[in-house]
Amino acid sequence: MIEKVNVFGPASLSNLGPGFDTIGLCLAGVGDIVEARFSEVKGVRIHLDDRGIKTGIPTNPTQNTAGVAALEVLKLLGVSTGVELLIKKGFVAGSGIGSSAACAAAAAWAVNVLYGSPLKKGEMLDAVLEGEAVASGAKHGDNILPAFLGGLLLVSSQYPTEYRRIQVKTSLWIALILPEIQVLTKKARAMLPASVPLKTAVYQASALGFMVDAFRSGDLVEVGRWMMKDQLAEPVRADLVPCYNSVKNAALNAGAYGCALTGSGPAMFAITDDRLQAKKILDSMIEASNQHQIRASGYVSTLNESGAEEISSDIKILSL
Ligand code: HSE
Repeated sequence: MIEKVNVFGPASLSNLGPGFDTIGLCLAGVGDIVEARFSEVKGVRIHLDDRGIKTGIPTNPTQNTAGVAALEVLKLLGVSTGVELLIKKGFVAGSGIGSSAACAAAAAWAVNVLYGSPLKKGEMLDAVLEGEAVASGAKHGDNILPAFLGGLLLVSSQYPTEYRRIQVKTSLWIALILPEIQVLTKKARAMLPASVPLKTAVYQASALGFMVDAFRSGDLVEVGRWMMKDQLAEPVRADLVPCYNSVKNAALNAGAYGCALTGSGPAMFAITDDRLQAKKILDSMIEASNQHQIRASGYVSTLNESGAEEISSDIKILSL
């Protein structure tokens, strides 16, 4: 029996412009770590690091995304023992890059690894979706499935465990900015219209289709173009981020192929095919945010095809 494991749960981008609730991308190097220890006591106990405590994450396992995912995996394993989880937050919660998903993905995989990895990831999708549902109130997979499985995934809102992996045939670098303002996902969802005209729905479907095909063809110019054509969520939500237009213009002027909100924001990301270019773009985005008196931090990241994975130490994690 293994005594202790550390698992990295990646942050993730969702929506990518026209893919509201239907597409997500797993990020490299940005995420949380969950340390799981074997316990003779049945069930799950949660401990938080300092950042987790500041964030106010609940420690009751039935109210905590990692706790629920871990409990579901223990059920799948059919064991009468339990686990202790230490959640080490690697990034700020509530930014739009899948904080609850990162924890839930890491916790689920950590419990499985602790018990000798009897389950394959494909057998655990319901468990991780249950974890994510505690935070969002719905089983939607656009953050949790990429965080758990890795890659760029199309997900189904109707059949939450169904997904399709999109091969990205080019190098993809992401400049990710986290403006220090709060956007509550619940509020940002409530702002969206309950129904849209047929014309909008058709336009949106074509934009997502074109963007996905451009990813598969490795054509980042086209990805970027379609990424900025969302007509459902982003036009409404942009008002919640006062520096939105300036940050977007700064990214495009610095050479980004496209720039959009991730999830309900306030985080925004821009894409390019070169790491150094991504760093320049990020610097311009941060400067633009600062000009609005909004402090911001950021990352340069890329596509992570692995998802939640065991790590031996914390060195892979970028910290703010
Ligand atoms: N797709 C969800 C939304 C993600 O945009 O509301 C929440 O982070």
